[in-house]
Amino acid sequence: MKFDTPATTNPIDQLKVIGKPTDRIDGPAKTTGFARYAYERNAEVPDALYGVVVGAGIAKGRIASMDLNAARATPGVRAIVTARNAGTLGKGDFNTAKLLGGPEIDHYHQAVALVVADTFEQARAAAQLVRIGYTRSPGRFDLAAEMGAAQLPEPTPFAGPPETKTGDFSGAFAAASVQLDATYTTPDESHAMMEPHASIAQWQGDKLTIWTSNQMIAWGVGDVAKTLGIPKANVRLVSPFVGGGFGGKLFVRADALLAALGAREARRPVKVALQRPLMMNNTTHRPATIQRIRIGATRDGKITAIAHEGWSGDLPGGQAETAVNQTRLLYAGANRLTTTRLAVLDLPEGNAMRAPGEAPGMMALEIAMDEMAHKLGLDPVEFRVRNDTQVDPEKPERPYSQRRLIECLRIGAERFGWNRRSTPPAQQRDGRWLVGMGMAAAFRNNLLTKSAARVRLDSRGIVTVETDMTDIGTGTYTIIAQTAAETMGLPLDKVQVRLGDSAYPVSAGSGGQWGANNSTAGVYAACMKLREAIAGKLGVAAADAQFVNGMVHAGGRPVSLAEVAGASGMVAQDGIEYGDLDKKYQQSTFGAHFVEVGVDAITGEIRVRRMLAVCAAGRILNPKSARSQVIGAMTMGVGGALMEELALDKRHGFFVNHDLAGYEVPVHADIPHQDVIFLDETDPISSPMKAKGVGELGMCGVAAAVANAVYNATGVRVRDYPITLDKLLEGLPPVA
Ligand code: MOS
Repeated sequence: MKFDTPATTNPIDQLKVIGKPTDRIDGPAKTTGFARYAYERNAEVPDALYGVVVGAGIAKGRIASMDLNAARATPGVRAIVTARNAGTLGKGDFNTAKLLGGPEIDHYHQAVALVVADTFEQARAAAQLVRIGYTRSPGRFDLAAEMGAAQLPEPTPFAGPPETKTGDFSGAFAAASVQLDATYTTPDESHAMMEPHASIAQWQGDKLTIWTSNQMIAWGVGDVAKTLGIPKANVRLVSPFVGGGFGGKLFVRADALLAALGAREARRPVKVALQRPLMMNNTTHRPATIQRIRIGATRDGKITAIAHEGWSGDLPGGQAETAVNQTRLLYAGANRLTTTRLAVLDLPEGNAMRAPGEAPGMMALEIAMDEMAHKLGLDPVEFRVRNDTQVDPEKPERPYSQRRLIECLRIGAERFGWNRRSTPPAQQRDGRWLVGMGMAAAFRNNLLTKSAARVRLDSRGIVTVETDMTDIGTGTYTIIAQTAAETMGLPLDKVQVRLGDSAYPVSAGSGGQWGANNSTAGVYAACMKLREAIAGKLGVAAADAQFVNGMVHAGGRPVSLAEVAGASGMVAQDGIEYGDLDKKYQQSTFGAHFVEVGVDAITGEIRVRRMLAVCAAGRILNPKSARSQVIGAMTMGVGGALMEELALDKRHGFFVNHDLAGYEVPVHADIPHQDVIFLDETDPISSPMKAKGVGELGMCGVAAAVANAVYNATGVRVRDYPITLDKLLEGLPPVA
């Protein structure tokens, strides 16, 4: 199905199933343990051996010697894979560094060996006996030190151009009555998902099956095939349940590749779960950024000049964090400049983490907007309202498909009691707590990408959906079931959903908050094709058949779907493909975050007290799972504001806090009452579903809202995340 004109009324608009706050259909399986994750495939592969990964002990250099004798002599050891016996390995499209290093080492904890044994304990014991001698080379580990050498990266489809210029920024900034020029930093962050990267690989002849934990099945198949030099048709990836991804599982990692190599070497299936202490340095992470923002405005708060420059680093051939990109779109202003620069660093690979680009970009931009509002003596909500735009400010001929940022801001202010905030900071006390409120806009783009599905109707009248789409905890199973039920005129319990298998049609996958809209649109397309086939079988045009409560009304007597299907059943396959509506219209999601914090006047300890998000993101397919997405994103935003930081050892080039004890994320006790409001809207330009996504929107701006609340509470402006109490202590107002 080609989607190239705005959607008109269609079966989804009935809203009998879609739009209802529906419990997860996979909930019972997950809460009872019947949902089997990557490492839990004893039924299919009862005889799997265990592999343990050995990570490099240097960041840059060469392996000078490797002694495997002691490891090989350990009881139970069946095979050891290293670069020396792994054969020629290619590099997948999505891996910047080789997944199996040696003799050259590209980054700390790069995998250099897999030890395979009968039991996990034997493999772990043997892995510790692998003796490696290294020759170190000097590495570049410090972004601030490499800023001067940073370059404009190549444009990519995701990143767009590295630099944009509109009007005359320098002239307009110099002439502006009110100016801000400030620099912000965000640290390296880790996805730190609950389920580690894990895979079981099994060869049957030259066919390879990998049960794994992956967000993007088709990308993964391509990367495995390319790396091993085998046809894609010989690779099957299975990933029906994913215990958190956040972008860390967009790509296959060492666990999958080494399980495949280990299984080939040992001639038995091999399972590998990346041990937690390896995850932070072995896999990808959100790279640190340095961001300079300049804003010039008239006295009455109209932005006349805005510039956002960002620096980040990655391995040679890597990608930049596109932290400036939302500044191309979010606020009005005739004179504009954005620049992304990329430094070469010999750190672990930097890559996408939840809302790549916008998450760190909004952390800086939305503090800058708060600072500017203060300079102007304007309420921060009002300042944003005055600089709203209904068109792409760099290309004014491109309108937004829909943009209700002002409503999000106004509704949020009203519901949060924003008028109780004191404008001068450090004025409100509650016992020993300094209390403050902060807010920020939320913004994240809506990305369109094709997505296919197959639907089967059986003789019981049950529709089964098959697509390689993944559910990474987001609720995909449920919204896909809702979509099929709505389109086919069925109750939810007459739909089954099968996901995460490369044997099924290729979907959009889970990334960039594009999963919900695109994958359901693909299922909708397949269901419409099935409706056509059913109508054809009954001898009527598709438009003349009504699908209600499991029955088809097509002129004559109503027939049940079960009866139409007959003993042999029916199958249809189709997908959604997009025309140029995302070129003609800027498609984004919007929101507003409001936060109240208390800061201990003596110790500087920060407690978040209340949070509210208001989101405008097209049709909300399932308000319950969407709310959970936003709640989770707000929580992650608090982590970004106050806790998350990979502590970098700049001498040796590795992240020191490489486990969940040292890498802090919020726990329940850190999180107060949170509320989420969705504007009631549909966006007919986004897809036949008229939906967008919220999984990343819910996080964009949160950290800045926390930072702005801390400023309002204390009068201390922290521009370097995370906002820890050591950065506050000196500036706290004297205790009376
Ligand atoms: Mo998202 S960082 O594209 O999984």
